[in-house]
Amino acid sequence: MHGGRVPTSEDAQDQATTPWWRSAVIYQVYPRSFADGNGDGTGDIAGLRSRLGHLAGLGVDALWLSPWYVSPLADGGYDVADYRDIDPAFGTLDEAEALIREAHTLGLRVVVDLVPNHCSEQHPWFQAALTAGPGAPERELFHFRAGRGENGEQPPNDWPSHFGGPAWSRTADGSWYLHMFAPEQPDWNWENPEVRAEFLSVLRFWLDLGVDGFRIDVTDHLVKEDGLPDAAGHHHRPHPWRDQEGVHEIYRSWRKVLDSYPGDRAFVAELWEQDPQRFARYLRQDELHTAFNFPLLRSPWSAAGFRAVIDATLAAHAPVGAPATWVLSNHDTTRHVTRYGRADTSYDFDRAARHGLPVDLVLGTRRARAAALLMLALPGSAYVYQGDELGLWEVEDIPDHLRQDPTWLRSGGVDRGRDGCRVPLPWEGEEQPFGFSPERASAAPWLDVQPDGWRELSVAAQTGAPGSHLELYRRALRLRRTLPGLGDGPMRWQDSTPEVLDFTRPDGFRCVVNLGPEPTPVPAEATVLLASGELVDGALPPDTAVWLRELRERRDL
Ligand code: NOJ
Repeated sequence: MHGGRVPTSEDAQDQATTPWWRSAVIYQVYPRSFADGNGDGTGDIAGLRSRLGHLAGLGVDALWLSPWYVSPLADGGYDVADYRDIDPAFGTLDEAEALIREAHTLGLRVVVDLVPNHCSEQHPWFQAALTAGPGAPERELFHFRAGRGENGEQPPNDWPSHFGGPAWSRTADGSWYLHMFAPEQPDWNWENPEVRAEFLSVLRFWLDLGVDGFRIDVTDHLVKEDGLPDAAGHHHRPHPWRDQEGVHEIYRSWRKVLDSYPGDRAFVAELWEQDPQRFARYLRQDELHTAFNFPLLRSPWSAAGFRAVIDATLAAHAPVGAPATWVLSNHDTTRHVTRYGRADTSYDFDRAARHGLPVDLVLGTRRARAAALLMLALPGSAYVYQGDELGLWEVEDIPDHLRQDPTWLRSGGVDRGRDGCRVPLPWEGEEQPFGFSPERASAAPWLDVQPDGWRELSVAAQTGAPGSHLELYRRALRLRRTLPGLGDGPMRWQDSTPEVLDFTRPDGFRCVVNLGPEPTPVPAEATVLLASGELVDGALPPDTAVWLRELRERRDL
């Protein structure tokens, strides 16, 4: 492969003035499965507060909390019944406030999840709309329509729900309402000014409580194409339910609210947009600060694939001046230890086709370690999903009757769903649930399927163990903080063989990742800062990454 400088927007950032979110490592907490403080089997704020030391010690800069709001948990909390309060299963608003305060004291920023496309069917406004009946103004807050067919017995259009089945459900009075996800998640009508005003107020509510930012759920879905046309034969890009022009105006109004608060606060968009130019439009200066960049997560384990993704990402972000973000796993996707241990290492939403295929966990783990060093060396900010730091794998053999993800039921059992990456974390001890719940808990974990093998992967078991996954993350994160060349800023590819990624960052930093089947020489005139696996006779073995400090000075960055 040929070398070359990759242009980035912030070539000469002044460290002192760089906002935190341009370089931050953000840890995703899925509250239900992080730590159970009160022993009822569900993770909660008390558990999270008791484990904040782990996160501060890990060396991350911020936390992103998946939804903790009042919710019937039809979709793990992405069905919100009250945007201004905490679900009793997770705790209270006072505890949330205390958590934010304590996190700040430890130097951790807090980003909360905002779910603006839909709410829960239990949201009082949806309940009021149901009661009010056809034609009532309360129904204007959602997408209610008459059905098609002689007796209105068919859905108003042909849109599919992302969770399987039609995107419409019928109410007792015969009308239909739109839900792009589960029927328990009615879509808000963003053409309605009351909806817009409500979300501005919700933003303020959490900003007043001290949060440092928001992760925005399905960012591009809020505005639907006028008239809700059928998708079949629809020739405009994209689908009529997403990436409509009108959505940008909403985010401009949100940005104004955020900017009216002191300090650095940021939005991160959940955006599965594949067209880099369309993606970058959300990151224009007066819109959102960052967006999850999923192409790395989707990419197979291949030097050419990764390199193409990195180049395309940086090229798309540069014109709008936004930093890239890097993600390997989250609560919706198969854990990457498992992905990288399969013959097909890419990710797509056709989970059903891949479920249960043979997995080499040793290989997957080895690659996951290398991927961590790659990701943390790239320009921009990075995300760590809870358990990534422990090297957890996807739990695939969950008994069907324990599966809770709505995608499982809605797909008629075709899609095994996302429960396998949401299994409660192992913290310590010899017995399940490995410290997830306190001793003498009153209930088993809500998803009681931790593998036995996680005994060796618990935080306590890995702490201080030389070469453990957790210690690798700790060292990498510690180094990342001290090395001025990492985080936001430029990178330059160095010449390498096709199966090797080799790039430099400012201040003498160099990262080499060997994705090929043969060992590759480690560049001379450099000292090893950290390696994801042991070097053999000074060479970098397959599926291994190394961080180096170069001894000679470069002037090309
Ligand atoms: C994306 C979230 O990450 C996912 O968990 C959820 O099911 C959908 N959005 C719907 O809110």
